[in-house]
Amino acid sequence: MNHPLYQPIQKNILILISVLMVVSCGKQQPQSRMDKKVDSLMRLMTIEEKIGQLNLPSAGYFKTGEAASSDIGKKIEQGKVGGLFNIKGVANVREMQRIAVEKSRLKIPLLFGMDVIHGYETIFPIPLGLSCSWDMDLIRQTARMAATEASADGINWAYSPMVDIARDARWGRIAEGSGEDPYLGARIAEAMVRGYQGNDLSANNTVMACVKHYALYGAAEAGRDYNTTDMSHVRMYNEYFPPFQAAVNAGVGSVMTSFNEIDGVPATANKWLLSDVLRQQWSFGGLLVSDYTSVSEMVPHGIGDLPTVSARALDAGLDMDMVSEGFLTTLSNSLKEGKITEQQINEACKRVLQAKYKLGLLDDPYRYCQEERAKTEIFTDANRAFSRKVAAQSFVLLKNQNHLLPLKKQGTIALIGPLADAAENMTGTWSVAAHFSKSITVRKGLETATAGKAKIIYAKGSNLYEDAHLEEIATPFGKTLHRDKRSAAELRDEALRMARQADVVVAALGESAEMTGESSSRSDIGIPDTQKELLKALLQTGKPVVLLLFNGRPMTLKWEDENVPAILDVWFGGSETGDAIADVLFGEINPSGKLTTTFPQNVGQVPMYYAQKNTGRPLGDAKWFQKFKSNYLDVSNDPVYPFGYGLSYTDFSYGEVKLSKPEMTASDSITVSIEVTNLGQKEGTEVVQLYLHDVIGSITRPVKELKGFKKVILKAGETQTVHFTLKNKDLFFYKSDLSLGSEPGVFEIFVGGNSRDVKKAEFKLL
Ligand code: NOJ
Repeated sequence: MNHPLYQPIQKNILILISVLMVVSCGKQQPQSRMDKKVDSLMRLMTIEEKIGQLNLPSAGYFKTGEAASSDIGKKIEQGKVGGLFNIKGVANVREMQRIAVEKSRLKIPLLFGMDVIHGYETIFPIPLGLSCSWDMDLIRQTARMAATEASADGINWAYSPMVDIARDARWGRIAEGSGEDPYLGARIAEAMVRGYQGNDLSANNTVMACVKHYALYGAAEAGRDYNTTDMSHVRMYNEYFPPFQAAVNAGVGSVMTSFNEIDGVPATANKWLLSDVLRQQWSFGGLLVSDYTSVSEMVPHGIGDLPTVSARALDAGLDMDMVSEGFLTTLSNSLKEGKITEQQINEACKRVLQAKYKLGLLDDPYRYCQEERAKTEIFTDANRAFSRKVAAQSFVLLKNQNHLLPLKKQGTIALIGPLADAAENMTGTWSVAAHFSKSITVRKGLETATAGKAKIIYAKGSNLYEDAHLEEIATPFGKTLHRDKRSAAELRDEALRMARQADVVVAALGESAEMTGESSSRSDIGIPDTQKELLKALLQTGKPVVLLLFNGRPMTLKWEDENVPAILDVWFGGSETGDAIADVLFGEINPSGKLTTTFPQNVGQVPMYYAQKNTGRPLGDAKWFQKFKSNYLDVSNDPVYPFGYGLSYTDFSYGEVKLSKPEMTASDSITVSIEVTNLGQKEGTEVVQLYLHDVIGSITRPVKELKGFKKVILKAGETQTVHFTLKNKDLFFYKSDLSLGSEPGVFEIFVGGNSRDVKKAEFKLL
């Protein structure tokens, strides 16, 4: 390398920089070697080249948005590209990087981004499923492994974690996040950031994380994707911001803005959101990127033409423009017209270059382009074995009447359903780098597990939908339509013939991958009718039926809960789904997943979440309709399955909640203890959950808020005492004036295996 940019750096200086970066890679740093290097580079740059760094086109290998980018190679040569995404394969990445560092005037390397959301080629469960493991170290390790694989293939920037709090099951993107709870969401956000970024962002096996979508995207009205949001600032700070702030505190390198508006201004140009809250209040010093065309989408939002919205976005604090090319094509003119300042362009450019510096790209642009690693570190047997283990931890046992599960490996098992032999659906939404054909189907998993012991017979039983158009929409991108041309009756009859020959029926039903995720909102969140008819018919055979539910959202399962003896929620478990399902169905692994979203009785109840407010007219203990109370005429206020719920093949009992003292001061702490006993014959894992209720506040507080959890393994018959420590900061909340603090008074504490079935105690904060 003969350019001054790539002069070798003294080893001791490198060590010092690494230490500084470990301490805070997203936060403001003092004048450092990085600043000097970036400043000296920027002194060489023209305004056009600086604006070029702010441009982030899509290479188009995957379709993750509507518009397309063009003439990429030429633009890179002209210094009009700062980074590229939607590109796959180390050789392809190397070639684009070569153009940047050999053909552009200043030879500035590119960032390479990708939606590495729940794995790279080795896919883990969808994030909503993964969150049900409640295992922060496991989650961190999935991100670590995803970063290792992605970076081995040339990627240095992952558009993850998605931390949007989501309480409306109609919203398809609820699948991509960690559910409804801010506390759990914040812990998972930290774990993911640590996993992706490791201890050293410049290492060649770590990638820069990008927390998204900032902010409130999960609160889209009516659950319709990209729709308007509107909420109080108190709610934003207490319920929707915490996972973002946790990611920033964990040192996340970048943040992606959301599509929605906030207080009437789209997030991508919302100065209060981007500058006041993110940059100033949270001291975020990393890279701020728009979502896919969220700059140009401010035109249809109705706040101006492309030059206006681009200038507003820059002024608000946005650094990089994904796909819109609003920055590339309009900022130079806006500068001439005095609508923006050179200082604003410099700031944005500096952040892009700082990100490149932190990733080590300014020292070695090919740091992440190691063909050897690409051959040996991706989709390895070890990674797949880990994914299988993780998948089993994400499954939630919703019902298990008379201990129907685990099944024995004997006799004949009829495997029925459109998701039973559907490799293309196993990895779920946002698995762009996956090879679907390599996924383990349920059929394959069950056949392998029972070889020589039991007979698996299979029938599809139904299509996903009876309606061919809906079926087409529900079929993954780029896949041929898997619709079976036979009539619903023919398909069902074949399945019933199989069921009658079997000792037990396993029905793999629910949603396809494409029915969940971006642009996949549903107004009916039940199992589609044709599949439900099949399920009813299977039950009528009198054979025991296990429902294996595939889903990317909480579904309405009231009828299923009342009629099907066993239900295992398997979400979309990733590349090894089928083997992991076999592990749990046959009892090699005892399920321990717990829901991170509330499952409503019907869609009319949503948005539904456990941390609701009491209101002035609470229904209290009444189960059904009461006049002049906050309830419905036609359905109770209860969910089918509450937040935190999930069964095991064993049973747990809880003792009474014990507190180390009845009162505490603000400088004090209190220990909460509870005995948990495994009542059954098998070892099992229980997620013990602690909730708090601030009984009287200056503003109303939720009836319960998660404040701690512990995952414990209990041998058959074993009792363990689980302890939690509560400090004053655990009682903090944002008040009307948005100041953070606690207020003296009585706090109720609830501990249990889900948010509904809890033991209670109380203490006073003096
Ligand atoms: C749009 C999605 O909202 C975002 O999550 C994703 O990272 C980008 N497209 C890039 O694919």
